[in-house]
Amino acid sequence: MSKDIILTGITTTGTPHLGNYVGAIRPAIEASRDRHVKSFYFLADYHSLIKCHDPQRINQSSMEVAAAWIALGLDTDNAVFYRQSDIPEIPELTWILTCMTAKGLMNRAHAYKAAVSENENAGENAGTRDPDKGVSMGLFSYPILMAADILMFKATKVPVGRDQIQHLEMARDIAMRFNHHFGEMLVLPEVVVDENTSVLSGLDGRKMSKSYNNTIPLFLPEKKLRKLIMKIRTDTSPPEAPKDPDTSSLFAIYQAFADSDACSAMRRRYAEGISWGEMKQILFETVNAVLDTPRRRYEELVADPEYIESVLQKGALRAREYSTPFLAKIRQAIGIRPIGR
Ligand code: TRP
Repeated sequence: MSKDIILTGITTTGTPHLGNYVGAIRPAIEASRDRHVKSFYFLADYHSLIKCHDPQRINQSSMEVAAAWIALGLDTDNAVFYRQSDIPEIPELTWILTCMTAKGLMNRAHAYKAAVSENENAGENAGTRDPDKGVSMGLFSYPILMAADILMFKATKVPVGRDQIQHLEMARDIAMRFNHHFGEMLVLPEVVVDENTSVLSGLDGRKMSKSYNNTIPLFLPEKKLRKLIMKIRTDTSPPEAPKDPDTSSLFAIYQAFADSDACSAMRRRYAEGISWGEMKQILFETVNAVLDTPRRRYEELVADPEYIESVLQKGALRAREYSTPFLAKIRQAIGIRPIGR
């Protein structure tokens, strides 16, 4: 058993798409099978509450994300898979850390600063408006909740997207400050940003992202998947013209789903001139072949929410084997303990 503890949170807003799958879900699922590392994966539903106040959507997204990860083969016997809100020690630790975190540190968070600068530059009365308009305390303290997620399980490695690097630095800062005061209890996590995973472009050629509204959801019915792939924007070069695979978003997606022999063969087809229509059809067949079995599994799971819930409850029990005793130690250390002891 290596000493590494890998932990990552999955925000439960929106429906997982092909870009999420290739960039984050697939590598995490592969890692979940490694018997030599201890890993924790969780649905960050308290984080999703920051952006969404629609109870139905909050609930639906958790269900979709959990079903997707299980359907794609997350090893929930090996990895601990749980829902953040099932671990009451996390919000407790969040409050404790909140009291030990400088407000100035949170003032520097990119997400918060972006919201403020948008307010300051907006409209004709720019500069006179409330700079904190629309900013909840949840958004402001987001990095502290994330630090609690990580520090609670003594994670050593945290795989995240580039946009989360600052949050990891903050988690380290918070942990150092705590340790300085109360003794070495918290483990400083390291950020892991995988530079090799490909970033897929979406329907319009920009990076596939929920915020651009250009995604291809993972578990669309086959017909809809084909329809969306046919809609991916291409240039107007004629069918027989030689094409450059390295600037083709169709090829980029193909490459993420086909093996290396198939990719080499496809490069030759590009050089000879393949029509975009044929390429789209091949791309659809390739992506569909990978997603076909998980899609069936996903549909079965969605039809059986009690089973999904039972997987999460099993994960919560396992997670609390760590969080309950550790929070007790932390409370002891900070003086929140029975009178006189
Ligand atoms: N903030 C992360 C994101 O948006 C999700 C997340 C919440 C997370 N808590 C975490 C990631 C703890 C890693 C560790 O992607």
